Amino acid sequence: MSAAPALPESLCHLDGEYLPLRDAKVSVLDRGFIFGDGIYEVVPVYEGRLFCFDEHMARLERSLDELRIPHPHDRGGWRAIAERLIEASERSPSQSLYIQVTRGVAVRDHAMPAGLTPTVFVMLNPLKPVADKARAEGVACVTAEEFRWQKAHIKSTSLLGAVLARQISVEAGAAETLMFRGELLSEASSSNVWVIKDGAVAGPVPDHRVLRGIRYGLLQRLCEARGIPFALRDITRGEVLAADELLISSATKEIVPVTRLDGSPVGKGVPGPIYHALYAAYQDAKQEPQP
Ligand code: PDD
Repeated sequence: MSAAPALPESLCHLDGEYLPLRDAKVSVLDRGFIFGDGIYEVVPVYEGRLFCFDEHMARLERSLDELRIPHPHDRGGWRAIAERLIEASERSPSQSLYIQVTRGVAVRDHAMPAGLTPTVFVMLNPLKPVADKARAEGVACVTAEEFRWQKAHIKSTSLLGAVLARQISVEAGAAETLMFRGELLSEASSSNVWVIKDGAVAGPVPDHRVLRGIRYGLLQRLCEARGIPFALRDITRGEVLAADELLISSATKEIVPVTRLDGSPVGKGVPGPIYHALYAAYQDAKQEPQP
């Protein structure tokens, strides 16, 4: 067995304490460990500034409410933890703040025990930018039937479906796995998917079938500001296969052009004009003052 890579020494937050990441430990009876009974958030941090923080916190609150976990902090409390970690970090241009809240520690029983203190874990990681080659040429993706659950709108730490879906693309030498529920596009293993046809951007309706990425609101705003038609609606497999451009989006990828799907070119097989326009707009948005 090869030696596991050394764990980072960077500061993290665990249940009110600040300590090196490699020393942070939770109980084996934590329901996050036993059941994946928790939620998480990933917030980009550019030049030490939290990006779309309120939108991420609103989703974190919604996820906690869905799981009936009490809110451990208000937004000011979360921001204070984030800022302390940013302050203590070796600053890199792009970082990602990871927040996880589980229901807490209890004797194993599937039912939700009342009165637990949620476990709170926060870390800050350097964010590796998407490779220049991927930006210049686009990435390959594959498709699969959706096999996750019916509550994809909750940003839950029960991510086995996402792990299995992502591995399909790893084994195909591709960047992501785009999933269909029957004939309708849902999303990719850890990204949302956008279909572009005749200059218009469309994304799947963000209902229980899809995690509503924070980029849903952001891309809508960027499209509206540039006169690019934007719609949320059911998208068929046929529309995906006939798209002029496909994009995937997430906190860590921003937007990335998909230029091959299941081995065939998407549109002209190169990143298209809408990708270039939205990518430039996204970079501008990162410079805007953040509340
Ligand atoms: N994943 N859909 C799924 C299933 C996701 O896991 C993610 C993000 C997204 C995009 O959401 P957002 O734009 O808010 O990042 C869509 C994060 C980055 C992760 O799990 O690391």
